[in-house]
Amino acid sequence: MSSFLDIHTTDPADLRAMIDQGRAMKDARHGLPKGAPDAEQPLANRMVALIFEKPSTRTRISFDVGIRQMGGQTMVLSGADMQLGHGETIADTARVLSRYVDLIMIRTFEEQTLHEMAEYADVPVINGLTNRTHPCQIMADVMTYEEHRGPIAGKKVVWSGDGNNVFASFAHAAGQFGFDLTFTGPPTLDPEREWLDFCAAKGHPVTIDRNPERAVEGADLVVTDTWVSMHDPQSARERRHNQLRPYQVNEHLMGLAKPDALFMHCLPAHRDDEATSAVMDGPHSVIFDEAENRLHAQKAVVRWCLGL
Ligand code: CP
Repeated sequence: MSSFLDIHTTDPADLRAMIDQGRAMKDARHGLPKGAPDAEQPLANRMVALIFEKPSTRTRISFDVGIRQMGGQTMVLSGADMQLGHGETIADTARVLSRYVDLIMIRTFEEQTLHEMAEYADVPVINGLTNRTHPCQIMADVMTYEEHRGPIAGKKVVWSGDGNNVFASFAHAAGQFGFDLTFTGPPTLDPEREWLDFCAAKGHPVTIDRNPERAVEGADLVVTDTWVSMHDPQSARERRHNQLRPYQVNEHLMGLAKPDALFMHCLPAHRDDEATSAVMDGPHSVIFDEAENRLHAQKAVVRWCLGL
């Protein structure tokens, strides 16, 4: 049994196996109603706690549905409604939950909370997003790229915008899956040095190019995300918009990428801010496949965590 805390701390061969299993499990469900059980029921008699200290649509529903399809049971918990939100320690919460459930997925603010949960829990813990990383999203994104275009290794991926927690997991994936990542955004919103150092050490240094038009030339995949993340203060909204406006992904920018380039956004989006509706709903966009693949990729992550 293993926790899935981040892409850069997970063995690349295991990451590859999870992507491949996610795709196989998706194929095996072809034509089935959403609520139908999978042919295999590896999570029969397993109970999973899904804890949210921040809002969620995709993560909450995709984990819940996926675990049920595999025969497991779920409880979706709000951190604010638990004693965790009223002073009980993370360590005590982890030890108590471990007496009731077989797996914990947590979406939280500080990375430290995730790590403390994993340290004190006797069951695997999955990172459903922290302020620093969002690994489940990028597992789904790698799966999505590969189901449309084949292996992502060696491809040019361009991130336009804020060097945030979703970018961080893309950087980890670049190192682990072997693709070339370019960041284009303002210097004030650069990614953390630690993530850039990780990619460099893996032999896939991140290219930083402040000119978005030059950056997207020859891109196989263009990615962006919201300009104000859940953990950013709303007071920063206007300043961030002013800084990030030149990095909006619009039809002009997409037109500079390869003709068959894909466009991704993890959602939720602020349409016509970070990306125009013309791009989000256009021929390059695979945003709803990404959302669907959260379900399939995470099912493989859950099985890996439980050794099933
Ligand atoms: N992309 C993502 O994590 O979506 P939610 O915030 O809706 O879970």
